[in-house]
Amino acid sequence: MKGVVLAGGTGSRLFPLTKVTNKHLLPVGRYPMIYHPLMRLRRAGITQIAVVTSPEHMGDVVNLLGSGRDLGVDLTFRVQDEPGGIAQAMALCENFVGGDPVVVFLGDNVLEEDISRDVRAFEEQLSRGGSAARVLLKEVHDPERYGVPRIEGDRIAEVIEKPTNPPSNYSVTGIYMYDAAVFDVVRGLHPSRRGEYEVTDVTNWYASRDLLSFGVLEGWWGDAGTLEGWHEANTLAEHLAYDELESGA
Ligand code: G1P
Repeated sequence: MKGVVLAGGTGSRLFPLTKVTNKHLLPVGRYPMIYHPLMRLRRAGITQIAVVTSPEHMGDVVNLLGSGRDLGVDLTFRVQDEPGGIAQAMALCENFVGGDPVVVFLGDNVLEEDISRDVRAFEEQLSRGGSAARVLLKEVHDPERYGVPRIEGDRIAEVIEKPTNPPSNYSVTGIYMYDAAVFDVVRGLHPSRRGEYEVTDVTNWYASRDLLSFGVLEGWWGDAGTLEGWHEANTLAEHLAYDELESGA
């Protein structure tokens, strides 16, 4: 299993905090934002990770993370020349992923709990054969800010991106698990109305074929990509410490 952390984008919703730096380098609690997805992947046993960011910020991101050794991970870097959406950034990692299943983590997602249980559940789903994907949901009070699942019984019928009338009180968090077929799915996508290749379209490819499973996060979760979300994530993560980093492991 490989990991991909997406840390591109212009950070326009956090401007001017992001005028001279990348959103994912801003602090969340006691760490730079991007440490959080990296440590959640490491704790799930995923240490081979590609980090995607823009040309403007690649230098700073590499200055911060280096090879990943200090965080106990083995990093590869990919440049997204222009912001073209989450799915486009994923496509840059095809050779790196090389036929393995992959956990894609949006770099501004911060959460309290480890994702190991869901990664194991996904591995089990894969071992039953065929194509597969899994998303993690979180119950929220403002679903219209996110991708929202329409749930039918024990399955997700579809995900609707930032709906005016949300079909449930869940957000699809920015933690996605896909089999290697995901790169063929991305190749078949068309840009959305805002001109981007959308991760929600990728997830819906699996949902419409009944290949999508889901887990529900129990602890707190935050998307630090807006000013409100960033403040909230900072409050939630105030006391979050990764012992591996504190002990210098
Ligand atoms: C993105 C996805 C959305 C998802 C969210 C989670 O939205 O498009 O489906 O719910 O991440 O963090 P963005 O934060 O880029 O607006």
